[in-house]
Amino acid sequence: MDNSKRLKLAVQKDGRLTEKTLAFLEDAGLEFDAFARRLYAACRNFPLDIVFVRDDDIPRYVAQGTADLGFVGRDVLYETAPAVDTVMPLPFGFCSLKLAVPRESAITDIGSLRGRVIATSFPRSVKRFFADNSIPVETLEIGGAVEIAPALGLSAAVADLVSTGSTMALNDLRPIATIFESTAVLISRPGLTGLKKTISDRLELRFRGVVAASSWKYVILNAPCTSLPALTASVPSLKSPTITPLADPGWVSVATAVREESFWETMEKLKRVGATDIIVLPIEKMVP
Ligand code: PRP
Ligand code: ZN
Repeated sequence: MDNSKRLKLAVQKDGRLTEKTLAFLEDAGLEFDAFARRLYAACRNFPLDIVFVRDDDIPRYVAQGTADLGFVGRDVLYETAPAVDTVMPLPFGFCSLKLAVPRESAITDIGSLRGRVIATSFPRSVKRFFADNSIPVETLEIGGAVEIAPALGLSAAVADLVSTGSTMALNDLRPIATIFESTAVLISRPGLTGLKKTISDRLELRFRGVVAASSWKYVILNAPCTSLPALTASVPSLKSPTITPLADPGWVSVATAVREESFWETMEKLKRVGATDIIVLPIEKMVP
């Protein structure tokens, strides 16, 4: 396969981001088979190859050009500050780096960790956090399964990523502070040019279409003509709403896109100004 004609996208092989990442790629219309998390999947309908790797390695692969693009959590970018471009935030992968102690530990606040050992895969972020709080601590860097360190007598606390919280709960750990919060982002190799840049731009347009669509809903409603001025003023839409007359001359049908984040506020306003029979539809794609 000619490598210069296809982009390589690095995604997490097995972890917090994997399922959401694959669903997002499918929503963007990419067709590929990721049987049992193989190492490699070629898209059938787009010049893109997907490589499955450890999330912590993704920034380095993208920085050195082993991959052209990557889906990764901001957490690893905060930790390693790699030489990559952040192209766009993605609407999944919410997690936070939390400090936690064994459930039965007497420690309840970060001040009590003065001089103690903290096990983590994020030593730089942890050092920065404690330096900012002027509390001297020791960090113990562990590559994976950090949550086991206190039980092994290696540390008084851990700093680990929490997404659903089930890993911490399973290991009887109690969070005491949040170091940072993070979501997934699309990163790219700096200085992509030529055909690769063109392919990357096409892909970015598709990704933005999926993100935009998931943050809007399509709404169709009926309203008396008399309430139209108040109604159009209270509907934040893309340009302006579509208005169609109904068979009943006193009524119109109004169609518009409504932002997900203010969805219920908009519904309440619409009801107040006389809207009825409100139908809400998901938007699959939205191309500016
Ligand atoms: C992180 C972290 C925990 C898990 C927490 O792993 O190390 O194992 O996520 O998720 P939970 O709160 O939903 O249980 P990550 O996906 O980064 O994989 P890695 O440990 O292989 O880097
Ligand atoms: Zn990780």
